[in-house]
Amino acid sequence: MSAKIIDGNALAREIRSEWKSHADLLIERGMQPGLAVIIVGSNPASSIYVRNKARACDEVGIHSEVHSFPENASQDEVIARIRELNIDARIHGILVQLPLPNHFESSEVISVISVEKDVDGFHLYNVGALVTGNTVFPPCTPFGVIKMLEKNNIAIEGCHAVIVGRSNIVGKPMALMLLERGATITICTSKTRDLAEHTRRADILVVAIGRPRMITSSMVKPGAVVIDVGINRMPDGSLAGDVDFESVKEVAGHLTPVPGGVGPMTISMLLCNTIAAAERALARI
Ligand code: GUN
Repeated sequence: MSAKIIDGNALAREIRSEWKSHADLLIERGMQPGLAVIIVGSNPASSIYVRNKARACDEVGIHSEVHSFPENASQDEVIARIRELNIDARIHGILVQLPLPNHFESSEVISVISVEKDVDGFHLYNVGALVTGNTVFPPCTPFGVIKMLEKNNIAIEGCHAVIVGRSNIVGKPMALMLLERGATITICTSKTRDLAEHTRRADILVVAIGRPRMITSSMVKPGAVVIDVGINRMPDGSLAGDVDFESVKEVAGHLTPVPGGVGPMTISMLLCNTIAAAERALARI
C-alpha cells in the first residue's frame, strides 16, 4: 500500500482563493486588510519566511509591510514600534517573526501586541482563549494541519493523535486543537522513552521535533495519517522533513511531503487570520 500524499501547495492555493473573496469584499467597503511583520536580525530562514508572507499577502490583496530591525536593536525600540502599529488603523494583523535574538524576552514583546491584532495567536490572552475552547486566532501551523485533515475528510473525533514536539508554536496548540475536536492526545518530546511505542499507536501522527527523517516506517501504524511539520536543511542543501518520507509512504494511509506540505498551509492560514481580524475591525466600527 502506498499513502495518499496530501498536496499542501494545492490546498493552500484553494484556501487563498476562498479568502481572496473575503478580502475583495472588505476592499469594496473601503477597508483593505493590512499585516505588519516585524523581523529582527538576519536569520536566513526567517528572512525567507517573511518574504514569502509578503508575497502571499500581495496575491490576495492584503496590504503588507515589513519592519526590519538590526540584530543589535533594543527590545524597547521594537516594543515602541508595536505600540505604534497597535493604533495604526491600516494594520489589522501584527506578527513578530520568531526566534528573536537572545537579548530579547519573546514573551514580553508578544504581550505588547494588541490582542485584536495578534494573528499568530501567541499573546497570552489568545493562548488562554485557545485553552478554554474560545479560540480567536488559531495559531497558523496547527490551524493549517487541521484544515489538511478536514479537507481530506479525516475524522478527528475519537481517534488517538500523537504529537511529537511540545513547542508553543506547533506542539502545544496542535494538541489543544485536536483535543477540542474530540481526539485522545499523547504529547511526546525529544526526551520521551520508547518513542516508537507511542507513535505506533497513533491514528494521527503530527511530528514537529526538528530532527531530519527521525520517524521511520517501523514507528508508524499501518494506515495512519502522518503530518510532517519539520523542515530541515541537509548538508547537501536539500530540505528534509522529520519523517522518513520514502519508507513511511509505504505504511501510512496519508502523508504530507516536505517541502510542499504544511509549509504553504501555514502562510494561507496567516492570511485567513489577517482577513478575519480586518472583518472584526470593520464590525466594531
Ligand atoms: N517562526 C517559525 N514559525 C513561526 C510562526 O508561525 N510565527 C512566527 N511569528 N514566527 C515563526
